[in-house]
Order: sequence, then C-alpha cells, then structure tokens
Amino acid sequence: MAAPSKILVFDSGLGGLTVYREVAAVRPDADFVYVADDAAFPYNALDESALVARVVGLFDELIAAHCPDLAVIACNTASTIALPALRQKFALPFVGTVPAIKPACAASVTRRVTVFGTEATVAREYTRALIRDFAQGCQVTLVGSKHLASYAEAELVGTPASDAQIRAEIAPCFIDDGKRTDTIVLACTHYPLLLERLTRLAPWPVNYIDPAPAIARRVVDLLGPPAPSRAGTSRAIFTSGQGPRAALARFSIEPQSATVAEAG
Ligand code: DGL
Repeated sequence: MAAPSKILVFDSGLGGLTVYREVAAVRPDADFVYVADDAAFPYNALDESALVARVVGLFDELIAAHCPDLAVIACNTASTIALPALRQKFALPFVGTVPAIKPACAASVTRRVTVFGTEATVAREYTRALIRDFAQGCQVTLVGSKHLASYAEAELVGTPASDAQIRAEIAPCFIDDGKRTDTIVLACTHYPLLLERLTRLAPWPVNYIDPAPAIARRVVDLLGPPAPSRAGTSRAIFTSGQGPRAALARFSIEPQSATVAEAG
C-alpha cells in the first residue's frame, strides 16, 4: 500500500485554516501539519526581502523535520512574493494562494470587481500583472486593508471587532459609479473567517470569492484522490510556541508542543 500523503499548510496565522478545511475535506486520508508563523504576524508589515528570507528559512527546517509531500502556502501575502524562491530551493510541489482575479472577472455581471487583501498583496507587481492579464474588460478596484486580518484572528479567539470597525475596512470595496461592484475577491486567507459578517455588513449583496476550493482541487490534481478508509491526522505548529487551543479545536486540529526554531 502507498504511504499516506503528508500535506503542510502554511500561513502567518489562523487564516490558512480556511484553506486547510477545504483541502482536508477532499483529502481526509492525508496527514496534515498546519504551520502558523504567528511570531511574525502580520506578514503585511514585513518588507518583501525580509519576508522571502523568513519563509525560505522556515521551510528549510519544516521540510527537514516533517518531510511533506506537498506544501500549500495558504497566504496571499507570502505567495505573491515568496513562491519563486521556494520553488527554486526545494524540490517538493508548492501550491500557492494568489488573488482569484480571473474567475472573479469572468463571473462579474456589472464588470465592477474589487480585489480585497492586505496592503502588501494589493501593492505587489504579481497582483497588478494578474489584473493586466485577466481583467477581461472589468474595472478592478484594489483595496488594501490594514486591520481585517487581525480582526479575523480576534474573531476566532472570541474577541470580535465591532460592526463599525469591520464596516470601515470593507467600505472602500463597494463602488457605485452607476454600476455597482458585484464581485469581491477575498485575497487574504483570513477574510473567509469573517464571511458571515462581511455578508451581513455589506451595503449591498455581492459575491465574495474564496479561493480555497480551487486550491483543494489543485492539491488533488497533484497528489491524487484520497486513499479509501484511512483517517488522516492533523496537528498545528505555531512559531510563537502558543497555539489557540479552542480555535484549533473548531477545525479538529491538535496543537503540537514542539515549535519551529525561528528563522533568520
Ligand atoms: N493570511 C495572509 C494572507 O492571505 C495575511 C495576513 C498577514 O498580513 O499576515 O495574505
């Protein structure tokens, strides 16, 4: 029988759990290691070269310690800058998370689309190039949020931000120039953690695009379908050494006491 697949899912914090849950749903037989580099959260605040060095340094240790078959970079802020360096240095397949601009623009009826991510993600040349290549005639508005990823973390540990705070972050996403924004790309993996509130607080109904199901399909393309009748395991590592136990329990993940030594 083939050895079970080991999948490493990586983010700066809890946002990657929105990707983890979709991948785990299609590969329930796999063994998962969820890694949150929360000692450096938020990645939005790191400059590009420091972020690449940090992520590559962490993967040096993670790959040596866990030997994953595949890694999912469940973070737009890291993927849009660090994927080439990771793929160059390490032989295993990396599945990245980048703004879902192509499907969003294909789906928009009003041709008004917003890409909503961290300030770093919306400023990246990678994101701008996706818009140049895939806007398909849509007007695309870029909105960088300073606080929403932290609000998502707070929500998950039981200290939610107020409605007014969330409204202030999402307000610039909604453009009405005679035609209204109808599609918003969630270009930060933390934001789907707030989906219910983003939907309730929207000034008008929109389609929020979460890339996680497409990422899960990509993992199955690369690793194949699940092995029948095997139940996989899931554990989490936080670079701070402290995982939020109750939040992880909601995703059926066991925190692990061992930590990854900090890179760089
Ligand atoms: N979850 C990360 C993303 O998808 C961002 C949060 C951060 O700034 O660290 O971009």
